[in-house]
Amino acid sequence: MIKLSDRLKAIEALILPGETVADIGTDHGFLPMSLWETGKSPHVIMSDIGQGPLNKAETNISKHFHNHQFDIRIGNGLETLKPGEVDVVVIAGMGGLLISDIIGTDLNKARSFRRYILQPRSAQKRLRGWLIDNGFCITDEILVREGKYICEIISANSWNESIEKVPNSCKITEWDEMDLEISPILFVKKDPLLVEFVENKVRIEEKILAELKAGTKSNKLYKIRMSEDRIKALKEFRKRSMPNEYENE
Ligand SMILES: C[S@@+](CC[C@H](N)C(=O)[O-])C[C@H]1O[C@@H](n2cnc3c(N)ncnc32)[C@H](O)[C@@H]1O
Repeated sequence: MIKLSDRLKAIEALILPGETVADIGTDHGFLPMSLWETGKSPHVIMSDIGQGPLNKAETNISKHFHNHQFDIRIGNGLETLKPGEVDVVVIAGMGGLLISDIIGTDLNKARSFRRYILQPRSAQKRLRGWLIDNGFCITDEILVREGKYICEIISANSWNESIEKVPNSCKITEWDEMDLEISPILFVKKDPLLVEFVENKVRIEEKILAELKAGTKSNKLYKIRMSEDRIKALKEFRKRSMPNEYENE
């Protein structure tokens, strides 16, 4: 039985029974193996740009499966897939800018897949902005703890029309700067890790502010003002995520 990490379990939970899946940047291949083993997906494709990671996936497959021939492909991003070949494309554990490059290389092809499940390790805000600017509709978000980090998982549909299928409470058509950083969907869903996620951001920015105040940078006053504004905005978000705790702020 394949044992998934909480992060990969959360990604798997976003896939609906019967959906075909391509895991781009599959590396160890655990997610596709589990999707096949549980019978959730009738067809899963493991794809990676490197032979080394695919060898790792092959080794893991040989430990768990003797009779199933997995569909393993080597190549850059979506180039290993035919248009519309799968329902869902998973791109996890990479930087947000690389993820947007992979989707943006051939937007026509990218739009032929109904849904993306993305787990950016960095530049999450830029990825959300890129998705919205390019007509993708963010329909779901989840926070998951992984060691000392909180990971952000984004589910996005290819067409803006898909917004019709989004619950009313999640219909967000205009995202401002802070929304791109802390998704409004997390508030609607009352994600259990939201408070901690926002508090971490406040703590990091307060540390930056203290360092700026102690430092001697030439444009220090401007940077201090920017940092103070950001802390104020983050604290507003913190109040929204835990109104009773921070009502007097
Ligand atoms: C850190 S691993 C993530 C593994 C797995 N997706 C996960 O979330 O646990 C990143 C993988 O992405 C692959 N990768 C990086 N750039 C890629 C690209 N342009 N196309 C396909 N795979 C890529 C790397 O070779 C590596 O195996």
